[in-house]
Amino acid sequence: MILVVGGAGYIGSHLVKELVEKEDVVVLDNLSTGHREAVDNRAVFVKGDLGNEEDLLMVFRSYPIKAVMHFAANSLVGESVTDPLKYYQNNVAATLTLLKVMMKFKVKNFIFSSTAATYGIPEVDVIDESTATNPINPYGHSKRMVEQILADFAKAYGLRYVVLRYFNAAGAHPSAVIGESHDPETHLIPIVLQHLLGEREQVSVFGSDYETPDGTCIRDYIHVTDLAAAHILALEALVSGKKTAEIYNLGNGLGYSVKEVIETCEKITGKKATVEITDRRPGDPARLVASSEKIYNELGWNAERNLEQIIKDAWKWHQEKRY
Ligand code: UFG
Repeated sequence: MILVVGGAGYIGSHLVKELVEKEDVVVLDNLSTGHREAVDNRAVFVKGDLGNEEDLLMVFRSYPIKAVMHFAANSLVGESVTDPLKYYQNNVAATLTLLKVMMKFKVKNFIFSSTAATYGIPEVDVIDESTATNPINPYGHSKRMVEQILADFAKAYGLRYVVLRYFNAAGAHPSAVIGESHDPETHLIPIVLQHLLGEREQVSVFGSDYETPDGTCIRDYIHVTDLAAAHILALEALVSGKKTAEIYNLGNGLGYSVKEVIETCEKITGKKATVEITDRRPGDPARLVASSEKIYNELGWNAERNLEQIIKDAWKWHQEKRY
């Protein structure tokens, strides 16, 4: 059985939907940001907190866990700057509790959701896994710290792990049953689509004076279903013993500016956005684009869905919006 911690959240719930086709799954989630209804009903659901050792002991005693996939984290850069305690508590301390219980039950396979925020402001145009990590906010630090903890646990206790550094996760399940449902929403694509549905008055573009061709920030958007597929390949590689300690970037390898994303949303929806240029948002690097060559070469993963497909699936979900 696979334990998916944070399986009711945006990325976790999309992974669970794919994983239940292949494995027995138990989801542990405290529903602080996730949605119970987003969890596929073929998975066992346990409401609990990964920072609470009792909750974890109950799950590990009750189910024969062979691997853990960890999606349960706070992930807003801005909030991490104003409330670092929350980020170090929930992202680092709670993960240590989880790892402690895993070691106690001799569960040694671990897939960890990390982030492009570990790279900070990179000096290269295309980021690969050898690019230096220099986080510039507590969120990025919290994820980088866990990566270090995993490397140390691997050496000392024989933990086997794969770290997946996501770039900009976006889109929705092609069935439109689940999608990106944050409250408050801070991410670009859902904000633009909410505006085009009449739920927001306008879209603010945070800065148009960056050193990029059109002056707005460039990001690498990756479909959440492609992310889910990468997790399943990583899990197979770990459980089969093919991989023991790896870090992989997950992106499209293509960068799109904020303006290009808005234009693509307009094209897909056939609606015109009202756009206002505002000040830069603190902590935004000008450009974050991944090389995902490593995971392609080693596990055969490739992003199959481009920005248009991401926005098409997101738009379908936004119109029907369930969870
Ligand atoms: N943006 C706007 N207006 C908005 C919202 C966003 O102009 O209303 C811009 C941002 O300034 C940024 C781009 O759109 O340039 C994308 O912003 P998102 O908030 O959608 O995503 P981020 O790139 O800030 O964040 C993502 C993940 C984080 C991760 C980070 C790594 O959501 O978890 O990448 O830098 F930490």
